[in-house]
Amino acid sequence: MNLKNKVALVTGASRGIGKATAIALAKEGYSVVINYKNNAQEAREVLNLCNSYSQGNIVVQADISKEAAVINLFRTIKKTHPTLHVLVNNAGIFDEQDGTTNTRAFENIFRHNFLSHIIVIKHALRTMKRGKIINISSVHGKSGYGRPENAAYSSQKAALENYTVNLAKQLAPKILVNAVAPGRTVTSMWGKLNSHQQKKLGEAHLIKRMIKPEEIANAVIFLATNDAVCGEILSVDGGYMLGKIS
Ligand SMILES: NC(=O)c1ccc[n+]([C@@H]2O[C@H](COP(=O)([O-])OP(=O)(O)OC[C@H]3O[C@@H](n4cnc5c(N)ncnc54)[C@H](OP(=O)(O)O)[C@@H]3O)[C@@H](O)[C@H]2O)c1
Repeated sequence: MNLKNKVALVTGASRGIGKATAIALAKEGYSVVINYKNNAQEAREVLNLCNSYSQGNIVVQADISKEAAVINLFRTIKKTHPTLHVLVNNAGIFDEQDGTTNTRAFENIFRHNFLSHIIVIKHALRTMKRGKIINISSVHGKSGYGRPENAAYSSQKAALENYTVNLAKQLAPKILVNAVAPGRTVTSMWGKLNSHQQKKLGEAHLIKRMIKPEEIANAVIFLATNDAVCGEILSVDGGYMLGKIS
């Protein structure tokens, strides 16, 4: 199939890693479905950027933590694109109230960052015949990493990585499932960072800087276009984990 005919859905593509991924996929010739929850204007700006590289791009609002919204999302996609070739499960939140015993934060994070991806995958598999699913995890998901004050976030990413491997076993060889585990990446998830704060956060990486969203997008493109990687969790962490081993 001509690459230009391929369709990719990126959840949470109005900002950050999702935005960079949508643009990178458009540069590869994919028609991109740009999903967002609240920021319609930013999503439309991403659409305009994608349109300068490829055709058939659309924006679809949907809160992917709600199954009814996901059903509508796929109904809308089907109007212009009969099938999907690449699914990037990227949308995610950070909960300021996160902590080891805050059950409300656990429910919130697991619904928005984990269950939401499973809901999207469930409905995507009704149209995907062959292709790639790429989940966006985090270095925090690795065993022994993360902080007690972000326990729900880390637990959810660990769950996502285990799920990724099991889904890969089930769907191969037709659909290859992998994940990317970013280190500290400059996005709005960190709030507004000045250059001093960025430098300080970047010190945790062996590369001594934060990671750019485009560098995570680049790893997604690798997984989207490679037909031999299956069930892999690809760390793009600037040596963060290596730096912890001494
Ligand atoms: N930044 C980092 O350092 C880092 C490191 C490791 C992993 N990650 C992971 O990378 C992914 C993207 O993070 P980011 O840093 O790019 O975050 P971000 O800048 O805060 O962007 C989050 C995106 O997700 C969307 N979103 C949130 N909840 C949604 C929902 N229920 N339905 C649909 N869209 C939703 C937002 O849409 P609206 O704009 O409409 O609200 C936005 O487009 C997340 O899974 C995160 O855990 C990030």
